[in-house]
Amino acid sequence: MKPLRSLLFVPGDSERKLAKGDSSGADALIIDLEDAVAPENKARARGLTAEYLAARPRGARGPALWVRVNPLDTGLTLQDLAAIVAAGPDGILAPKVDGPGDVTVLSNYLDALEVQSGVEQGSIGILPVATETPQAPFNLGAFGSQRIDRLVGLTWGAEDLSAAIGASTNLDPDGGWALTYRLVRSLTLLAAHSAGVQAIDTLYVDFRDEAGLRESSRRARAEGFTGRVAIHPDQVVPINESFSPSDAELAHARAVIAAFDAQPGAGTVGLDGKMLDIPHLKQARKTLAAAAAYTEPLA
Ligand code: COA
Ligand code: MG
Repeated sequence: MKPLRSLLFVPGDSERKLAKGDSSGADALIIDLEDAVAPENKARARGLTAEYLAARPRGARGPALWVRVNPLDTGLTLQDLAAIVAAGPDGILAPKVDGPGDVTVLSNYLDALEVQSGVEQGSIGILPVATETPQAPFNLGAFGSQRIDRLVGLTWGAEDLSAAIGASTNLDPDGGWALTYRLVRSLTLLAAHSAGVQAIDTLYVDFRDEAGLRESSRRARAEGFTGRVAIHPDQVVPINESFSPSDAELAHARAVIAAFDAQPGAGTVGLDGKMLDIPHLKQARKTLAAAAAYTEPLA
């Protein structure tokens, strides 16, 4: 699946915001049926979401269309899925999962609903929010060993985890994430790469602070995150730019590949007075592959 740099949350009961999704420039929308929608509006949001998807069939969509369903323990998940699967979402954002077991349950639901509604089998991806319960961080490593075909990426969240553990804050006095949240963020990053899927960083809450978002996103990408959740359309361009390789990075990647090409069979080469070995070559290839994927026209 095409890498997702920006995934913009859009409340599923807001026609006004849904209407802005097509022109947002996001790689994906995440139409929300969970916490952005009040209980009394869930049914209406399901209907609106299904209509929105159906009006933008696969192959004729701008942004990829994902849906955040309600968690398994609410008893609402099956109703959410039953309402939207036939309209062919690209994927399901699965909140508050405890681990691969919950994701497998969801995957089994999708198996049945895809067959029932004639949607291509296995075509709906899953992106779990994999740190929102106290149990979840302990199961992150299992995503690497229990290969789930539908798994497209892993992302993490701090707000629900802090609520679940009765924490009055998830921040340090300096405003950065407190240790618990830095820990689960790192584990999510490692788990995603161990499973060979996209590592999606959590949202940047202050949506008026573009400079802060850019700095934080550039650092996230430098650490190995491949994309990020957005909550406001103004965050999309800064996120897309921050998660795309810069011209300087592309030039460097090409130079690294050229240096290895010039010495076939060599395991290490020199470039600009620095030693390069195979990990550098792999990273250079990843950089070029990412850039090529982002410049492809949207499917
Ligand atoms: N998707 C699409 N359009 C959005 C949007 C979003 N996430 N957030 C804001 N907009 C639209 C607004 O409707 C507004 O357009 P309008 O003037 O035609 O109504 C325009 O962008 C500017 O919005 P702005 O006034 O700056 O923000 P706001 O005060 O209306 O909304 C939030 C602020 C945070 C409530 C809103 O950004 C939002 O709903 N974000 C998503 C929340 C969410 O889904 N959370 C769940 C996951 S954490
Ligand atoms: Mg939440």
